[in-house]
Amino acid sequence: MKYARLIGTGSYLPEHILTNEELSKRIETSDDWIWQRAGIRSRHTIADGQSTTNMAEIAARQAIDAAGIPLESIDLIIGTTSSPDYIFPSMACILQRQLGIKSCPAFDLQAACSGFIYALSVANQFIRSGAAKTVLIACSEASSRIMNWEDRTTCVLFGDGAGAVVLTASDEPGLLATLINAAGEYGDLLYVPNPLPGQQNQETHAHMKMRGKEVFKVAVNTLGAIAEQILTENNIEQSELDWLIPHQANVRIIEATAKKLGLSMEQVVLTIAKQGNTSSASIPLALNEAIRDGRVKPGQLLLLEAFGGGFAWGAALLRY
Ligand code: ACO
Repeated sequence: MKYARLIGTGSYLPEHILTNEELSKRIETSDDWIWQRAGIRSRHTIADGQSTTNMAEIAARQAIDAAGIPLESIDLIIGTTSSPDYIFPSMACILQRQLGIKSCPAFDLQAACSGFIYALSVANQFIRSGAAKTVLIACSEASSRIMNWEDRTTCVLFGDGAGAVVLTASDEPGLLATLINAAGEYGDLLYVPNPLPGQQNQETHAHMKMRGKEVFKVAVNTLGAIAEQILTENNIEQSELDWLIPHQANVRIIEATAKKLGLSMEQVVLTIAKQGNTSSASIPLALNEAIRDGRVKPGQLLLLEAFGGGFAWGAALLRY
């Protein structure tokens, strides 16, 4: 059976950097609080007039260049975003047009911060079944546009950016396994309402709402459990892992997962200090950084995992 093999990565971070110091001039918070509670010092924010798809396009072009493939060979585009430019068309369809790709299926999937893992899982099914050969996944988030900038419990945690990968069918191992799951019963703990008129919720703004403490507890327990589950189901020992590349929501959540796996923090790719939580873009951003700076080497085994709104979560084992 063919594997889905990772052949290219790319990313984009907007130019503007918003530091904790700047934030503490606007709202009642401090660099110390944000650093101690979440491990964040600064984040990037998208410029007025720049689009979510524009960030996705820059990351996607970089990933396609790295893969060294012609644009026409892409036969599926999956987009993930919680801050789309339009309700429809999907970011994936707009991206397809901007890249100049004439014909292939293109769609967005919504799994909040776990979007990248969900997209990997879908791409894996397409490639393994032979329905697609080369898949572009682009994850782009302008979370600053869905923040209430007066709500210090959320706005200090998030940042903007995009990450993209190209996967292609190969006889050599690549994606070894993916695991996805959800528990809709927790939907009220983390959400962005739709403020269109006539809605039951009667919200006037598409602002993120989060009950952080409750999210934290479920996230720590779930991420530890799925990391163990995906290893057990695939007969892989913890000691065989080279890297943990987690969704970057809170460094304390990441430390708890690493500890459960018996990994040292030197085996964890961390980007949160300078990027904050970039939602579904955070894993491809971290993956791209670690591949390009040479930390992740060919043949190494990576565990990727994410947790977010829905709640939706997932993990993937990837041989690079
Ligand atoms: N600056 C200063 N003080 C603050 C801030 C702030 N930015 N925000 C809250 N506080 C105060 C609170 O009001 C509270 O004060 P009180 O004790 O007087 O009531 C105190 O700090 C402690 O607040 P807690 O909410 O208890 O702090 P906690 O230690 O739980 O940390 C945090 C909060 C960082 C949000 C944490 O709960 C967390 O990381 N949760 C999980 C986030 C996450 O993983 N989300 C999922 C991914 S996101 C996605 O899917 C879209």
